[in-house]
Amino acid sequence: MAEKVKAKPVKITDTTFRDAHQSLIATRMTTEQMLPIAEKMDKVGFHSMEVWGGATFDASLRFLKEDPWERLRKLRNAIKNTKLQMLLRGQNILGYRHYADDVVEYFVQKSIANGIDIIRIFDALNDPRNLETAIKATKKEKGHAQVAISYTLSKVHTLEYYVKLAKQFENMGADSICIKDMAGLLVPYNSYELVSALKKAVNIPIQLHGHYTSGVVAMTYLKGVEAGADIIDTAMSPFSMGTAQPATEVMVETFKGTPYDTGLDQGLLSEIADYFRPLREKAMEEGLLNPKVLGVDIKTLLYQVPGGMLSNLVSQLKNQNAEDRFYDVLKEIPRVRADFGYPPLVTPSSQIVGTQAVLNVLMGERYKMVTKESKALVRGEYGRTPVPISEEIRKIIIGDEEPITCRPADLLEPELEKIESQMKQYKEQDEDVLSYALFPQVAEEFFKYRQAQKTKVDPNLADTENKVYPV
Ligand code: CO
Repeated sequence: MAEKVKAKPVKITDTTFRDAHQSLIATRMTTEQMLPIAEKMDKVGFHSMEVWGGATFDASLRFLKEDPWERLRKLRNAIKNTKLQMLLRGQNILGYRHYADDVVEYFVQKSIANGIDIIRIFDALNDPRNLETAIKATKKEKGHAQVAISYTLSKVHTLEYYVKLAKQFENMGADSICIKDMAGLLVPYNSYELVSALKKAVNIPIQLHGHYTSGVVAMTYLKGVEAGADIIDTAMSPFSMGTAQPATEVMVETFKGTPYDTGLDQGLLSEIADYFRPLREKAMEEGLLNPKVLGVDIKTLLYQVPGGMLSNLVSQLKNQNAEDRFYDVLKEIPRVRADFGYPPLVTPSSQIVGTQAVLNVLMGERYKMVTKESKALVRGEYGRTPVPISEEIRKIIIGDEEPITCRPADLLEPELEKIESQMKQYKEQDEDVLSYALFPQVAEEFFKYRQAQKTKVDPNLADTENKVYPV
């Protein structure tokens, strides 16, 4: 007799306001573009919406001249029922270096105070010491600490390695675990195997996060859900696929009528997609959405390059008039990665390895020019690399300098007070200190811009006397 399968609806995190536009249009979606549809998205019944963190903070300040904290408050105000989620790079917060514990704690506190419910915390190197402070701070502020495994492939990244890591994260207080596959490297049957192993090893929910770059991720989700994954990350169809996530509507349809049925309303989703479609068209026309990132790039499986990194490389090379070196750089990346101890390629290690690979190719000689970030990585300032870096490479990159072996943040004195004293003339809200802590120059420019906007005299105001008013 057929046994009735117990319903286990798969939950959906919509990434349209964070990862999807970060991956497809260089993080240029504005708050103005998000707000008109936010309330409708709140009605869908998503498990959560990823709306903040990652590169959105930097891009808001730098390119959009928007206060990211203001964005978060506006979104919170419009999205009253759905949990808001952000991505945090452990001790790097949203920046590109390690910050002292007091900055991490304060950032987490303010993120939750301004509306974040779930913080997805990861470390580029999967070094648990870099996650400790952020996890503790999230729990202290009564937030949900989701700890992410940066998924990658290498001789050390085995099933046993990931199981051990997941158990460690659970013991550290993780409320859920995310398998963060930023490059689309997790193939369907490995997904089944990995999720099965993790479900056996830990008692907390497992979430799958992938990118379409290599063309397999929808199948990877399907097999992962069959193996017991609780939540999947998707994006509304106009901002899906390519280097972003699978389409929400497609995954909803996939599970319809099965024990995993999401129960989400396709009618409502289609109205939301109607809103986003013209934004996609506009991004295409403006050249923000490069067709290069939309196709299946099977080479990502070979070169292990995440989506966001691909679109960055294209624009980096374009700026140097060296677009023809694209595939040379893609070939150099795995070589640099091996030299640097097989770090997973995710921010900031993806930028470090990517930029170094670009330099190695464009200079015509490997390590002729070495970035200070490459030096910091080799010195151990980002934490422990999965494999120790060879003596030979260390010599080339940092010479006779002594690498560090402790938790990198243990070497950092509290910094908040000093940072505040440097920027206090600009401070209009407590959160400004954190914007400045993360991106000093960019934040200062933004503060000046904000000030100028306020004091700017409306040119029409001056000649009101001469104006003829209609009666
Ligand atoms: Co991602």
